[in-house]
Amino acid sequence: MALPKSTNISWDESVITYEDRITRNGHKGAILWFTGLSGSGKSTLSRLVEKELFLRRCNIYRLDGDNVRHGLNADLAFSPADREENIRRIGEVAKLMMDGGTICLTAFISPYRADRQRAREIVPAGSFFEMYCKCSLAECERRDPKGLYKKARAGEIRDFTGIDAPYEVPKSAELVLETDRLSPRECVEQVLAFLQDHRILYLNDR
Ligand code: ADX
Repeated sequence: MALPKSTNISWDESVITYEDRITRNGHKGAILWFTGLSGSGKSTLSRLVEKELFLRRCNIYRLDGDNVRHGLNADLAFSPADREENIRRIGEVAKLMMDGGTICLTAFISPYRADRQRAREIVPAGSFFEMYCKCSLAECERRDPKGLYKKARAGEIRDFTGIDAPYEVPKSAELVLETDRLSPRECVEQVLAFLQDHRILYLNDR
């Protein structure tokens, strides 16, 4: 982890503990890190999961690639260094949310294994869950919801993930969602079952 540039800083402990927060919320904090190619279903699935968890009265928030790039990360483009910084900041924001007792869903391509690993390592073990939206490039290109693959093939967009920029497939994702084989509903059910199995939602079950 990079050392802060600032000197003469200390850590200020809150009087409200993480345990206080999860007791009140009825569920643990967690990060569900959706990763995959553009068009693989990250935004769609995270939106559906967000709705389901909201209906279950969970404290939940979703960070989405395109949205965050309008604000917090408006200064970043798609070079490897910018993508790394994009994911570093998102990891830190997700960590703060998790620490506040929220279930944070993130939907970023996050193409580099090392960047995802770093986001995992800054939070306590057992609170970061990689959700790999597995979908062939051919199917993502067929869907092309934003018309970006077409532009990338035409050379109008450079460094497009899957075309002329890499995507490093997760080696040990907690969950693999086969979005080109299963319906969105089936994938959402898989995520919900996963959260139950891992006792993230345990207090609501009593
Ligand atoms: S990441 O690689 O840094 O994780 P992020 O998820 O924030 O990417 O943003 C990806 C979104 O930006 C895509 O869904 C797409 O809408 C848009 N985009 C624009 N240019 C590119 C590009 N060169 N590569 C990938 N996505 C791009």
